[in-house]
Amino acid sequence: MGLLKSSIGRKFAMALSAFFLMFFLLQHFAINITSIFPDNGATFNKLSHFMGTNGLVQYVMQPILIFGVVFHFVMGFILELKNKSARKVSYAKNNGAANSTWMSRNMIWSGLAILAFVVLHFIDFWFPEINTKFIQGDWSGLHDGEFRYFHELQHKFLSPIRVGAYIIAFVFLAMHLLHGFNSAFQSVGANNKYTKGLKTFSKIYAIGIPVGFIIIALFHHFNH
Ligand code: HEM
Repeated sequence: MGLLKSSIGRKFAMALSAFFLMFFLLQHFAINITSIFPDNGATFNKLSHFMGTNGLVQYVMQPILIFGVVFHFVMGFILELKNKSARKVSYAKNNGAANSTWMSRNMIWSGLAILAFVVLHFIDFWFPEINTKFIQGDWSGLHDGEFRYFHELQHKFLSPIRVGAYIIAFVFLAMHLLHGFNSAFQSVGANNKYTKGLKTFSKIYAIGIPVGFIIIALFHHFNH
């Protein structure tokens, strides 16, 4: 792939995968926030069942998502390694704070924290889901005659350790997004009269989405 051979091409591809994941995160949030609606999980159950059994979502969007996640992580590592090796002799004085933010210099670390979270999150939710549907062949979404999704979600957030780990991960997510969103806009050249508006939008997204996820986790921990 020619695009990935140049440094600019790699940054561009990284930005595209970032936008895609940010779009996923928004829809993931929009569905999960319904779990705190005062309808005892009815909306969340309906949406989860649709997403979990719809052919387009399962066989087209889900594989694209998994590819997007893996691509973003692999490309992140490649960019980090290339950036490091681009300058064999390190600066005599690395006065990073003078011209870059702490977050921008630590994308790899916040990224690794999110990767650890994604592994935990897959063990918690995604693998059991794959097991129920693809291994046991149960696509009914039912347990004891009722939709199972809401109860499974509530159950996961009983443990204070899991809730704590999730909250720490969401703080890292906010840090990653705070720099990542702006950086992605820069990489695709969106550096024009809209920059100020884009920056404001990035900030609202980067803080709003993780805070929203924290609220969901805490809500289920304290209400069950
Ligand atoms: C309180 C916060 C969250 C809750 C309650 C939650 C809930 C869930 C649930 C129930 C699933 C299983 C969906 C299924 O396959 O049927 C899932 C999957 C997934 N989650 Fe989350 N999630 C949260 C936060 C996040 C965050 C912050 C990320 C990314 C950084 C994330 C990434 C994913 C991914 C990649 C999948 C697998 C893809 C898929 O849905 O098929 N989640 N999540």
